[in-house]
Amino acid sequence: MEEQHKVFPLLLLLLFQVLHVASQTDRGDFTALSSLTQSWNNRPSNWVGSDPCGSNWAGIGCDNSRITELKLLGLSLEGQLSSAIQSLSELETLDLSSNTGMTGTIPREIGNLKNLNSLALVGCGFSGPIPDSIGSLKKLTFLALNSNNFTGNIPHSLGNLSNLDWLDLDQNQLEGPIPVSNDQGQPGLDMLLKAQHFHFGNNKLSGPIPQKLFNSSMKLKHVLFDHNQLTGSIPSTLSSLGSTVEVVRFDKNQLSGRVPSSLNNLKKLTEISLSHNELNGSLPDFTGMNSLISVDLSDNNFDSSLVPSWVFNSSLPNLNTVILKDNKLSGTLNLSSGYRSSLQLIDLQNNGITDLVMGNQKLNFDLRLGQNRICLENGVSEESYCKVPQTIPPYSTPSNGCSPPSCSNDQIASPNCKCAFPYSGNLTSRASSFSNFSDTSYYKEIEQTMMDFYRKQNIPVDSVSLSNPFKDSSTDNFQLTLNIFPSQTDRFNATGVSTAAFALSNQLYKPPEFFTPYAFIGVNYKHLGGESKGSKSSHTGVIVGAVVAVLVLLVLAILIGIYAIRQKRARSSESNPFVNWEQNNNSGAAPQLKGARWFSFDEMRKYTNNFAEANTIGSGGYGQVYQGALPTGELVAIKRAGKESMQGAVEFKTEIELLSRVHHKNLVSLVGFCYEKGEQMLVYEYVPNGTLLDSLSGKSGIWMDWIRRLKVTLGAARGLTYLHELADPPIIHRDIKSSNILLDNHLIAKVADFGLSKLLVDSERGHVTTQVKGTMGYLDPEYYMTQQLTEKSDVYSFGVLMLELATSRKPIEQGKYIVREVMRVMDTSKELYNLHSILDQSLLKGTRPKGLERYVELALRCVKEYAAERPSMAEVAKEIESIIELVGVNPNSESASTTENYEEAGAGDGKHPYANEEEFEYSGIFPTIRVEPQ
Ligand SMILES: *[C@@H]1O[C@H](CO)[C@@H](O)[C@H](O)[C@H]1NC(C)=O
Ligand SMILES: *[C@@H]1O[C@H](CO)[C@@H](O)[C@H](O)[C@H]1NC(C)=O
Ligand SMILES: *[C@@H]1O[C@H](CO)[C@@H](O)[C@H](O)[C@H]1NC(C)=O
Ligand SMILES: *[C@@H]1O[C@H](CO)[C@@H](O)[C@H](O)[C@H]1NC(C)=O
Ligand SMILES: *[C@@H]1O[C@H](CO)[C@@H](O)[C@H](O)[C@H]1NC(C)=O
Ligand SMILES: *[C@@H]1O[C@H](CO)[C@@H](O)[C@H](O)[C@H]1NC(C)=O
Repeated sequence: MEEQHKVFPLLLLLLFQVLHVASQTDRGDFTALSSLTQSWNNRPSNWVGSDPCGSNWAGIGCDNSRITELKLLGLSLEGQLSSAIQSLSELETLDLSSNTGMTGTIPREIGNLKNLNSLALVGCGFSGPIPDSIGSLKKLTFLALNSNNFTGNIPHSLGNLSNLDWLDLDQNQLEGPIPVSNDQGQPGLDMLLKAQHFHFGNNKLSGPIPQKLFNSSMKLKHVLFDHNQLTGSIPSTLSSLGSTVEVVRFDKNQLSGRVPSSLNNLKKLTEISLSHNELNGSLPDFTGMNSLISVDLSDNNFDSSLVPSWVFNSSLPNLNTVILKDNKLSGTLNLSSGYRSSLQLIDLQNNGITDLVMGNQKLNFDLRLGQNRICLENGVSEESYCKVPQTIPPYSTPSNGCSPPSCSNDQIASPNCKCAFPYSGNLTSRASSFSNFSDTSYYKEIEQTMMDFYRKQNIPVDSVSLSNPFKDSSTDNFQLTLNIFPSQTDRFNATGVSTAAFALSNQLYKPPEFFTPYAFIGVNYKHLGGESKGSKSSHTGVIVGAVVAVLVLLVLAILIGIYAIRQKRARSSESNPFVNWEQNNNSGAAPQLKGARWFSFDEMRKYTNNFAEANTIGSGGYGQVYQGALPTGELVAIKRAGKESMQGAVEFKTEIELLSRVHHKNLVSLVGFCYEKGEQMLVYEYVPNGTLLDSLSGKSGIWMDWIRRLKVTLGAARGLTYLHELADPPIIHRDIKSSNILLDNHLIAKVADFGLSKLLVDSERGHVTTQVKGTMGYLDPEYYMTQQLTEKSDVYSFGVLMLELATSRKPIEQGKYIVREVMRVMDTSKELYNLHSILDQSLLKGTRPKGLERYVELALRCVKEYAAERPSMAEVAKEIESIIELVGVNPNSESASTTENYEEAGAGDGKHPYANEEEFEYSGIFPTIRVEPQ
């Protein structure tokens, strides 16, 4: 019997070892990937096993068994980008574009991905500030964060990205000034000497466009600052980009002053839009800017003038579109001496033009003179140029000489007449330079070049179609619906969607000039086909590996069997986990554990990637906490005691015996322990959503509405009630605080760190004298003064925690103690007890937080000066239950999911009391191993 006990785990370990040899994926990368994605919904279906590199997991690219690419686009992923991303240290490409369910903030730790070359999070639901740490991604050449909900300023640190080529922050809620380098040594965008793309449109940027932003060392091609709140004048330094710049968009701002005449140096400029500003002085003369194709100067304060001659004469050979509407042009428009054949659209609506002289010419372009005196007064309103302009004519890619079938089940006929589920999305040109929308050759050219690209890249695309062209009036962008049809079956698998979309999000596909620059935002693809589990060769690999493993195991099993029989009765200290206790004699028999497993030191080392820095999730006086993944993929938090916090064998045994018996939904549970090679470690379940403190401070991006706060309070109260009343022997926590309450996937509260706990030995029930432990702000003053520890000390701390939940303030903030502050402003005769000024302001938006008065009353009872006047934890839990019922929610239903985030709830105004506080360390979250001497 005994030998079986010893041999079996050893065999399992060996099996794992041997199979692991066959795995092509770095263990640490696998751990990091599991940790990053375990709480995501809709992970690709072929993500099974533990070998992403060896078994072709969709969206994962590897090099030398390290994960280098994460391309997961349009897969309806839902979740957050956690700090675990930092452990994928060889990552070069990260693209999660077109997953609207990816929310929360970008973690600061992303700055540790020193090899990252391309980062694209286009069209997701990310929010919060762009972390400064992005500036440490020195290898980054491509950064696209467009179409999210990012807020705050553009960080100065982006100026450190000296290799950056593409920078797209379009369509967010970014505000504040355009950062340039300054005397205080901060870097700025002017230092991005390799950048060709500055796309900052559709934000809330303010202040002037700094002179310093442009200089002749730069390579900028596209400079887009449209639809912001910029003021001041157009910097004359723009002209220093003469040898490179092609597109300038400053439209929809509040720019004023004159257009600098030096702009005429921009010999490569094809498109410029300065519309909807407050520019004044004379209308600029663009003569000599020979590359110009499209000009928009509409809606400014230019001096009254005749229509300038450069609009029509042949000095600008490529100019096809000039928009000068909503200005003060006057006089006669004389076209009798001819005009350029390239013209497509001249829009002069809403000016003061009195007459049109045509000579023998016939109009063969779109001339718009509506709302001018000529159309209002001279009785020519029937002329086409006075009519309300036509909208863009409809277009849809025609079928390719075949007759389109009628498709069922939401399938769509491709241009090649196959029914399929295309991947679709919006293809947007940020500066389209053509206006003749009835000429379908423009569309054809896009279709053609895109198909050529997909064919050349061997991406399984059958055909593409374009439809629904329109000009988006809120961005002035030209947009098309793009359908990409799969070639091999009627639907894409996850690899197919990601690859096809990646080519667009990462700008690998280059459209014709008249459509550049562009952006693509795809839908969440709903028709994913299955993936085959790995390629043939890796199947073979696994089979060969397994056969070898079985053979090796057989031989080993026989050897071990022989060895075990020979060693009968002799003890092997290597294979018996409990022998240590017995060697330490007087400590008695092996521990009595319920469900907790023994782990060897080597296992611990393997699961934590050799206790890698990147796996560290917390540290403190007791030692370090690491994240690890068991071979099953289950994540654990491993607490490794430092030399100083090591305890004697008896105490350690007592501790794990105690913890292994504590099982409650609202308590973090012990998975196992390691006691070998002079180390003491405790292995806990991993709780994915961080601490309550992280949520209240906005750090985790999880928004806590009132109901969630009530439920978290209830969960924590129930966990504590269990410790006080049902654990045997009872346990006093002694360090209740928001960083010791963890939140799981369903935001269920789990109390952690009851390792500091004091066992309530029966004879001492009622009070325990002990050295004072705890955290300032939460500490029961009675316990502090008398050193008499009772359960009521936990109740006090819990009351403080409740006030913290209602106010989102730290217990002690700027020298003010929350308990006293609440008592000071509270006035029970007033609405909401007059607490408006002190409550978390976001709770006051929308519906009134029901039951808040009772909640605060309960909290204040918990912090009564005399312990005897405080309720018990069970009474607290009961009262909260009844408050939750009052709100109209079932207190026992599972908490809402975590998708809502902090900013969306309108609390991210930067004035949050916890905002920008870096000092919170992730410490003391897991039970300490220490047991205090009596
Ligand atoms: C941004 O947030 C607003 C609400 O604040 C929401 O309506 C909108 O859908 C969000 N946009 C994106 C791209 O997630
Ligand atoms: C930019 O890089 C320099 C040099 O590497 C460094 O000293 C500085 O702290 C960085 N600045 C920011 C804001 O990241
Ligand atoms: C352009 O700006 C950068 C950063 O401010 C600076 O290093 C460089 O010397 C400037 N080049 C010129 C030609 O002024
Ligand atoms: C043009 O605008 C600038 C800045 O607003 C102002 O100072 C100047 O007086 C204006 N010039 C004219 C001619 O209105
Ligand atoms: C595409 O654009 C349309 C119209 O602006 C919008 O309603 C739709 O949500 C967009 N689709 C995606 C995937 O962004
Ligand atoms: C996904 O589909 C493509 C072709 O449509 C196929 O070549 C590839 O093997 C599939 N990927 C996986 C992992 O099954």
